[in-house]
Parts: sequence; structure tokens; C-alpha cells
Amino acid sequence: MCTKKPNISFIISDIGKMNTVVKELGDLFQVTPLNTGAQLKNSLRAISLPDLYLVDAAMDAIDTYSMLAEFRRDELFKHIPVMILAGYGHEGRASACVALGLADFLTEPYHASLLVQRIHGLLASAMIIRKAQESLYSLYDGVHKMIELRDPYTGKHVRATKSYMRIFIEHLPEDIHPRYHRVMASKDIIALSAQLHDMGKIAIHNCILSKGGDLLQLERKLMQTHVEEGVKAIDQLQKISPERSTFLEIALVIAGYHHCYWGEPLSGKGKERDYCYPKLLRGDKIPLEARMMAIVDVYEALRSQRSYKAAMAHDAACSIIEKNEDNQFDPKLVEVFKAVKGEFEKEFERISKTDT
Ligand SMILES: [Fe+2]
Repeated sequence: MCTKKPNISFIISDIGKMNTVVKELGDLFQVTPLNTGAQLKNSLRAISLPDLYLVDAAMDAIDTYSMLAEFRRDELFKHIPVMILAGYGHEGRASACVALGLADFLTEPYHASLLVQRIHGLLASAMIIRKAQESLYSLYDGVHKMIELRDPYTGKHVRATKSYMRIFIEHLPEDIHPRYHRVMASKDIIALSAQLHDMGKIAIHNCILSKGGDLLQLERKLMQTHVEEGVKAIDQLQKISPERSTFLEIALVIAGYHHCYWGEPLSGKGKERDYCYPKLLRGDKIPLEARMMAIVDVYEALRSQRSYKAAMAHDAACSIIEKNEDNQFDPKLVEVFKAVKGEFEKEFERISKTDT
């Protein structure tokens, strides 16, 4: 049986005044009191997020209103319930916060049993939303299985890139990007979203997908349409999704930009000009998730056998990626790749064994 206590971040103006509440909740929940703006900001950067926010409406150190409005806008926090404790004289403020879309509020005097009951209710609702989200992931997993049935190479490629993406994210240094903490907090979602990066290949004719030998220029152009076909398909999934989905938003940028070049293709290779598509974005304008995907995608493609080519050894694949630092790939991410390529090789061996 799981004995882990739900984790509550309690945003308090006066720890002394709220001491009794903290103690009463402490038996059932893991309570982290936060009573300064700095503590709250640090908690928002934390990789492990709480199950519920409890907010003292009298909190003066920070602007409760703008903080709560911020919660509502942020995909990462929007499913974490927020409960307001409205002390005497702050009832109006609490109801205004609830009008912002927050889950619940309780007014003074706080009865421990009622407070605990309300918290359990909010946690149960949040659990139902999480389960619904997991069902959606299962649906997307079904989409991935369809891709695999359609084209076994793409199916295996999709599974492997998900694992490599996970390794890559785990090893990102903290100064890699201003959004580092958000990326780390969404790492599970990013790895799942990466599975849809080649979803558009469903729309590509079999005679092109499984052609042995080089593609003709027209065939290559048709193959490249898997990017826009993927974007269209994910866009459709977004339209039927009951609410805004972080998973689909990340999937969309990965599918749409995973073939973008960081810089200009190496000169002297005319054919390569065709491979950097779409040409909409360059450099750090390309979303970070798509830049990671570009490296992971190429490593996996080089290591794998296809109907038109043999598999490449680990060292040869790595040297192609390292040689293309600064033109095809983000150089900072290539540095990360160099540090984790041994993990990639181990994962490649593991996947190869499970596939035979
Ligand atoms: Fe692709």
C-alpha cells in the first residue's frame, strides 16, 4: 500500500498564527510552509510540484491576486488545486480569488475536520483529472501503435527516440536555457510527446516509406511533407481534446520543427539544402524541445538499418553529429550529447536486445 502523504505547499503570511493549522494538517499531509516571496518563487522553480496549494488570503509579502492569476495561465500548475483560507476581513478577497478559477475557499474559524475533508475532496478531483489525462496518453499511444503497424521502421524509431529524449533531458545542465526548470518539470510529457514527432508519416505512401535505395527528388519532397502532415494531425487532436493539452502543444512544436537547422548547411553538399526543412526558424528561435529532438532523431536514424541503408556504428554516428555542430545542431546541445552518448549506446544495445 502506498503510504506517501500528499504534499501541500502552504503560503502563509504569519507562521505563528497558522501554526495550529500546520500542526493539524501535518499528521495527514506533508506540509511545506512558505512565507516569503523568495520561498514561493523557489518553490515554483522546483522540479517536484505539490499536490495542492493552500493560501492564506492575508498573505502580504507577495501579491496573492497576481500570483494566483499566474497559476491559471501556466499549463504546469493549472491542475494543481488551490485552496484559500480567508481570515476575518479577507472574505471578499478570497471570493475574488475563486472567481479567478481557483478551486475552493474556507473562512475563519478553521475547523480542522472540515479543512481536511475539503482538502481530500480537492485532491480526489485532481486525481480524476490526472486519470483522464492518462487516458488521453493511452489514446496517443494507440496512435503510435498505428504508426508502427503502418511502418515497422518508424515504429521502432519512435520508441527509441522516446528513450533517448528522456536521457537527453535528464542530463541538461541548469544554465542551458531560461526555461530549464519548466523543461525538467515537464520531462515525462516531453518524452511522451516526442513519440508523435513523425506522426505525419501516416500520410506518406508505402512505396516511398519502404523504398530501397535513394529517394528521387520528388519522392524526397513528398517524404518531407510528413512535417506539415504531422502538424495538421496534431492540430486536429488539439481540436477534439476537451481542454488545452501541454502534451499536444509540445508534440506540435517537436513535430513541426525537428528538421530545422540551427545554422546553414555545410557548403559543398547541395543535397543537404533539401534536408533542412521547414526553413521557418533558425538558431535559438527553434523551440528547445525540437532542437533536442533533432539530435536524438539523427542519432537513432543513423544507428538503424533501413530498407535503403545499413546501420551505422555508434562512433561513426556520433562523429557525424559532432561534425554538424553549429550548422545542423545547437552547439550547446551537442556538448550535452557528447556527455551522454555513452548512455545512448547502452540504450541502443538494450532496445536491440528486446527487439530480437
Ligand atoms: Fe521526421
